[in-house]
Amino acid sequence: MTDARPTPETAPPDARPTPAAPGPAGAAADAGRTANSMWGGRFAAGPDAIMEAINASIAYDRRMSAQDIRGSRAHAAMLAAQGIITDSDAAAIGKGLLTVLSEIEAGEFAFSAALEDIHMNVEARLKELIGEPAGRLHTARSRNDQVATDFRLWVRDQCDAAVGGCRALIGSLVAQAEAGADWVMPGFTHLQTAQPVTWGHHMMAYVEMLGRDMGRFADARARMNESPLGSAALAGTGFPIDRDATARALGFDRPTANSLDAVSDRDFALEFLAAAAICATHLSRLAEELVIWSSAQFRFVAMSDRWSTGSSIMPQKRNPDAAELIRAKIGRILGAAVALFTVMKGLPLAYSKDMQEDKEQVFDAADTLMLALAAMTGMMSDLTVNRDRLEAAAASGFSTATDLADWLVREAGLPFRDAHHATGALVAAAEARGVDLPDLSLDEMQAVNPAITAAVYEVLGVGNSVASRRSYGGTAPDQVRAQVSRWKTAMEGWA
Ligand code: ARG
Repeated sequence: MTDARPTPETAPPDARPTPAAPGPAGAAADAGRTANSMWGGRFAAGPDAIMEAINASIAYDRRMSAQDIRGSRAHAAMLAAQGIITDSDAAAIGKGLLTVLSEIEAGEFAFSAALEDIHMNVEARLKELIGEPAGRLHTARSRNDQVATDFRLWVRDQCDAAVGGCRALIGSLVAQAEAGADWVMPGFTHLQTAQPVTWGHHMMAYVEMLGRDMGRFADARARMNESPLGSAALAGTGFPIDRDATARALGFDRPTANSLDAVSDRDFALEFLAAAAICATHLSRLAEELVIWSSAQFRFVAMSDRWSTGSSIMPQKRNPDAAELIRAKIGRILGAAVALFTVMKGLPLAYSKDMQEDKEQVFDAADTLMLALAAMTGMMSDLTVNRDRLEAAAASGFSTATDLADWLVREAGLPFRDAHHATGALVAAAEARGVDLPDLSLDEMQAVNPAITAAVYEVLGVGNSVASRRSYGGTAPDQVRAQVSRWKTAMEGWA
């Protein structure tokens, strides 16, 4: 089921009520309020306006309307199959719920904060449409198992969407890696030039990260795929319900095994947020590299016009705003995770209203992650890579010093520590002359270690350096091509 995500243009007007001032004026404003028709049997008066404002979740949980109606239809059909309600009542309920859904999808539904949440808004409208049978829908059910079911369905969809988003980005990174499997660039540690690597190798590093992100969303989905429906308020129900049937109808693998757990945990949402935060962290790192690489000082890459912005005062500017925003989005996503962990900690079993605070966090984090993934995919797909700049940068900064030390070990039989020391002296000599290692003469080299021969110049070139790193997972173009082909085979399986 797809989530009808409201865009700024289509979003229904905010149903959040403006609270009246507390005190006598507020009390007067509440005078006309009547008790809630869903649970107001023992209430003489309606809620204070501010009570309604803090209590209502309809302003945001309307995003679960499709899931709510799907769950209710499955529940009604099961009630009829079990002889708990009549077939004709179930048919009226099922049909009425579809009408409600189409009203919501058409933007014609009048959401009411007085009815608190999506569950009661839907049921109240159903009652207007079909009358008495609507009152039988909530048999053997509570809003507690209802909301847990709806929210699992919603988060489950988001896990699928996140997997899709990761796959798309992996596709554009693999294409970059394939094009530049043998483009040499500086590899960094501490953001200082370390050893030459290949562009393809660097791209494939992010592919591995996103592959694990995808795995986390898939794992979370598999674990959350149990149906809370039928757990009722907390203790289960005395009605002869069939939880397997509703689980099956909603695409769950099985019903949850403990009703108290089912209505009171939100670990599935926490797992989603944790996976989202890790994924957003990966995106943030790549975004930061794009910001650095596109600067005038680096010029490793150029973002296309579609992914750059200008400055209103400095005509020369091409700003990587999308990359900067992706770099920042982790703040919201991790913030959502921290918020929900904080809501959940210390809550006694079973349901507490605190848990209504789960949804906005997850909604915002999911929207943010999908947007960041899509933006990164777009940016990576039409990124121009300045191959010459990469290679020139790779050749500076003594990036092949390790190759020189390795050569001394291999060809001159030095212990690595001695080779490291001799190479350090050669780097110092080159630095003093303002040149790079390959610019030192053989005499200058031999002054540091007489065992050095002209063959050493072979390993000082960056192309030879990367080609030599053939260990599994290493930066050699052949290794990168092997990684690319492994992922391309995986990608064929996704199509
Ligand atoms: N709007 C509520 C939520 O999101 C639904 C569950 C309400 N349950 C209750 N017993 N008040 O958590």
